[in-house]
Amino acid sequence: PRSVTRGADGAVAVAGLSVRDIAAEFGTPVYVLDEADLRSRCRDFRAAFPTEDIFYAGKAFLCRAVVKMIAEEGLHLDVCTGGELATALSAGMPPERIGFHGNNKSVAELGRALDTGVGRIIVDSFTEIDRLTALARERGVRPRVLVRVTVGVEAHTHEFIATAHEDQKFGFSLAGGAAANAAFKILDEDVLELRGLHSHIGSQIFDASGFEVSARRVLALQAQIRDARGVELPELDLGGGFGIAYTTQDDPATPQDLAKRLRKIVDSECAAENLAVPHLSIEPGRAIVGPAVFTLYEVGTVKDLDGLRTYVSVDGGMSDNIRTALYDASYSATLASRASTAQPLLARVVGKHCESGDIVVKDEFLPADVQAGDLVAVPGTGAYCRSMASNYNHVPRPPVVAVRDGQARLIVRRETEEDLLALDVG
Ligand code: LLP
Repeated sequence: PRSVTRGADGAVAVAGLSVRDIAAEFGTPVYVLDEADLRSRCRDFRAAFPTEDIFYAGKAFLCRAVVKMIAEEGLHLDVCTGGELATALSAGMPPERIGFHGNNKSVAELGRALDTGVGRIIVDSFTEIDRLTALARERGVRPRVLVRVTVGVEAHTHEFIATAHEDQKFGFSLAGGAAANAAFKILDEDVLELRGLHSHIGSQIFDASGFEVSARRVLALQAQIRDARGVELPELDLGGGFGIAYTTQDDPATPQDLAKRLRKIVDSECAAENLAVPHLSIEPGRAIVGPAVFTLYEVGTVKDLDGLRTYVSVDGGMSDNIRTALYDASYSATLASRASTAQPLLARVVGKHCESGDIVVKDEFLPADVQAGDLVAVPGTGAYCRSMASNYNHVPRPPVVAVRDGQARLIVRRETEEDLLALDVG
């Protein structure tokens, strides 16, 4: 995070508060959110996209405090389940600023979206169009919808999180004609208001050319719809997926760069197709929250396998960060509770779970005197760590603490063994 410094005692401090104090008050592991950092990333996006709408993708990390922060910073919110919707609404997010995604929204979820007046629903299948039409008719409402288009772009990212190539569950295929048919079907339903097209090509993307190809293709479809039906759709959403730096090797584009490139391609494509430039929106998740958080762990054991490798075990692991095991993601780690002048040692930071895939950071140089009781910080864990956390091995999920101006505030409390046992009613 941006407000991280080293104090006089050598300990890492965030917004002026030492990690030692955070660990003493809240225990470890703990996710530490630098509130000023999160807000500054919202502002960077707002400054770069001043006339566009920015929908924060809540799947990256969602809790009421964060909903309030992003709402105060002028962002909108993308949710993809009833649970995320409930969290957003309970935090006071105005429903008209919520977009609802998902490839299998239930009747109950769609009904709730209509009853609460969600601003837009991004439809993902013909079944959903039928379902939504029936629900809207029943209620006498006319929801605003976007069509999620599968544009056939292979984003350069891990295959599990790339979502716009043809063979996958999301969206309507552009090449196969389903996307055009979906748009026509919606235009034929008087209870649905077709606002525009949507494309999301994947996540943790560094090469902006994928967004350009995708924008070009959806705009060509937009022109096709205009030619067939005489309707120019007023909105276009280009999705999220903007990459962040997990290690020093990663070099992400700035929001300003992205905005420039996206606007340029949209403008030139609209000029070529003789289309009015639609109102644009984007859906960044990771780029807003990812860098704003680090996980603070306490070292429990250090095992030196003579010359082979040193295993530094921390008090969390794959239950609070599944990304290393699941996507082969790279993270870094720092000795955070003190300074050390010891030689760097090639270490692997592992968790406390009962399997060897339980790796937090595969390779990291830590001082050779790293020992039990030290605090280790793993930066960049704001996105898809707490939100994908599990109770594997009946480990309670860590809390989230927001730090601002030297003050820490608990925003998600630690799960307890009582919480776990409360579900076990047999
Ligand atoms: N919009 C849509 C429709 C999405 O499906 C997603 C992410 C986003 C926006 C936000 O993408 P972002 O800007 O955060 O990259 N669990 C994986 C990432 C899954 C992304 C799912 N969809 C990971 O940990 O890398």
